[in-house]
Amino acid sequence: MSSTLIRNIKTIYGIQTQPLPYKKGAAMSVVDTLSDAYILTEGEVIVSYGPMTSMPERADVVIDANYGLVMPAWCDSHTHIVYAQGREGEYVDRLKGVSYEEIARNGGGILNSAGKLQAKTEEELYLSALARLDEVIQYGTGALEIKSGYGLTTESEIKMLRVIRRLKESSTATIKATFLGAHAIPLKYKENRQAYIELVINEMIPLIAGEGLADYCDVFCDKGFYTVEETDKILKSASSYGLKAKIHANELAISGGVQIGVANQAISVDHLEAIGQEEIECLLASDTIPTVLPSCSFFLHIPDAPARKMIDAGLGIAIATDYNPGSSPSGNIPLLMALACNNMRLLPTEAFNGVTINGACAMELGESHGSIAPGKIANLIITKPISSLDYMVYAFGSGHIDKVMLKGKMR
Ligand code: NIG
Ligand code: FE
Repeated sequence: MSSTLIRNIKTIYGIQTQPLPYKKGAAMSVVDTLSDAYILTEGEVIVSYGPMTSMPERADVVIDANYGLVMPAWCDSHTHIVYAQGREGEYVDRLKGVSYEEIARNGGGILNSAGKLQAKTEEELYLSALARLDEVIQYGTGALEIKSGYGLTTESEIKMLRVIRRLKESSTATIKATFLGAHAIPLKYKENRQAYIELVINEMIPLIAGEGLADYCDVFCDKGFYTVEETDKILKSASSYGLKAKIHANELAISGGVQIGVANQAISVDHLEAIGQEEIECLLASDTIPTVLPSCSFFLHIPDAPARKMIDAGLGIAIATDYNPGSSPSGNIPLLMALACNNMRLLPTEAFNGVTINGACAMELGESHGSIAPGKIANLIITKPISSLDYMVYAFGSGHIDKVMLKGKMR
């Protein structure tokens, strides 16, 4: 097994000293650091870190960090990077005043993406998703969740999930797959939504679970999409096949999605732009991780999730890109952190924990990813020589990342 020594690190961020990785409330602003440091990796894992004064003498490969910062690679717990093409036409329509919901009601939005995706081959989808994956790895992402949901037929949902499986097998990034057949109601079923829900439950879920194609099941539980009752039925059926829940909830309205996600022991409930005190209390009494998506609010020009209020109430949030063609065509985590800080009033340390350890926990990867400790996967970012995490977030939009190591290999 080959060892790699990273030396001359100005500061390591995200050292994990506590056995409990998930950070809640006030702990979200705590990031453990070490300055003038080295990190040693062997094979796929971190072996040790420490001050330069006690640096090991030998390693197979030596990398000089040149007084850059080292951080754990980002953990993006909510993306939709398998899609056929962008929706920039809808973006321009929105700029002219048409709303996201109106576009969706008129057969655009998710249905537009589904039509385009159905016409593509698995190979075409694989190649375009791989290009997006390579792009986000360059921004420092080392683990991500990818959803289906632009297929909306049994054949095309399975096609999407097979693309995700190929990405899992071919990439050094760690990937979790989520089945999101209940993302919208296909036009064909507009007058008979029950029949589509039955297709999801009786055909898609058994086939997908049988082929081992998904880790989670998601439902878009929101106004104009799936009701609480429908969501509950789908999640219960998925759970009987071993697929845990991870849902889209409360983006467009107070939908009851948070409560139904929590009642179904969802790993995470995501979006939360429309939540109140009741939802916060429900989350506080659960193990479900609230996940906020600041670039979706930025891009759709909708209110941000009340992340500041949530953390102050004691919650631990994950922050994810939601990278998709309709509501967040960006997978750039450093930019996302700037949005989280500026628009949601989070501290850079809180944003950092949201996109590292808490993001890892929202994919059940907290034991292996999202922080720096001996035995954890060697997924590391080396920045250019900048002064601090605060500076990285403050000087938004610049490419601060110099190198990315995934599973012990430099990219
Ligand atoms: O997370 N809200 C639901 N689904 C995606 C966007 C879907 C789309 O517009 O293509 C989201 O924002
Ligand atoms: Fe999403």
